[in-house]
Amino acid sequence: MVEQPGAAVIGLGMMGERYARLWRELHATRLVSVYDIVAERAEGVARELGCTAAGSLEEAVGAEGVEIVSVCTNDEAHREACVAAAQAGRHVLVEKPLATTLEDCDAIIDACRRAGVKLMTGHVCRFDPRYVKCHDAVTAGEVGEVVQVFARRNNITASGRRIGPRTSVAFFLGVHDIDLIQWITGRPITRVCAESCSKVLSSIPADDTIMTVFRMEGGAVGALETCWVIPEGSPNSLDARLEVVGTRGRVAACLGCEGFEQASAERAERPDIAYWTEMHDSAQGALRRQLEHFVECVLEDRAPAVSAEDARRAVEVAAAIHQSLESGGPVEIGT
Ligand SMILES: NC(=O)c1ccc[n+]([C@@H]2O[C@H](COP(=O)([O-])OP(=O)(O)OC[C@H]3O[C@@H](n4cnc5c(N)ncnc54)[C@H](O)[C@@H]3O)[C@@H](O)[C@H]2O)c1
Repeated sequence: MVEQPGAAVIGLGMMGERYARLWRELHATRLVSVYDIVAERAEGVARELGCTAAGSLEEAVGAEGVEIVSVCTNDEAHREACVAAAQAGRHVLVEKPLATTLEDCDAIIDACRRAGVKLMTGHVCRFDPRYVKCHDAVTAGEVGEVVQVFARRNNITASGRRIGPRTSVAFFLGVHDIDLIQWITGRPITRVCAESCSKVLSSIPADDTIMTVFRMEGGAVGALETCWVIPEGSPNSLDARLEVVGTRGRVAACLGCEGFEQASAERAERPDIAYWTEMHDSAQGALRRQLEHFVECVLEDRAPAVSAEDARRAVEVAAAIHQSLESGGPVEIGT
């Protein structure tokens, strides 16, 4: 292992551009190569950040000095890049969800195990102190036995219009909370029953919202609200909440109103300052902490905070939610 591992980024949309910038900004890493199926995107990022625009996936992951590959392609296109990176002996940091099918999850996990490289899925909420505090309190037994869990993740319609044609609100948004619920409580979700509605995005076609009622190992019950059609004019583009009620206490994380507001004559805004925000010419927030954590795991040979099994389990539950929508009834998930 070299002192300052090189990184490659595959897929240079909204998230990939952020990863590329962070790998370049972090003192511990350097950005070596970037690749996107749209060549101009890779060329633009390479020009701006001073790295190589690779002409192919193999060239990007195989470039000299690359030790970490972050995969930021669309949800359903994670497998090919993750497997190629692992086969080239690179550590893999892949955006959430790990994949959209269990078959793809298993192929990625298997390739990383065989190559002996680290694999972490970017469940970035695990690097948000509000959720970490919930986890730590529940894990320390401070709420007693978990009785009820509620999670909400609602985004503005622009998000549904942008992502709706490619994936579902359960895989894009719900998977964050599915992972959080199982991580915070330490219990798997064992049964789901879901309902959906499509009006705003019916022409795509995509669900506007999916509401899921679930049961967990140990008997707790919960509800998961995922929606990506809240009005464009909303002051905050994300409205998210998680609450755990136990036999002796309660914890809650509330996102969306981060304590900073800006208003003009036309509109008021509460921008994200928790996950990605500019401060003193660098990008700060939970995404940066996630990348720093992964590099530390690589350099110190530690297990990443999000295990492959946890990431797979989140995909399994999201897939069960879709099975429930199709069948119209509850779906059991084996433990
Ligand atoms: N952690 C979060 O909060 C968060 C937020 C948004 C998106 N995401 C996740 O990040 C990933 C990317 O999302 P995005 O919003 O950046 O999407 P995006 O559409 O903005 O970017 C995806 C990019 O991948 C490229 N691409 C697609 N297939 C490819 C392939 N086979 N090889 C190389 N490049 C390919 C596309 O050309 C595009 O540039 C998704 O998995 C998404 O769920 C996570």
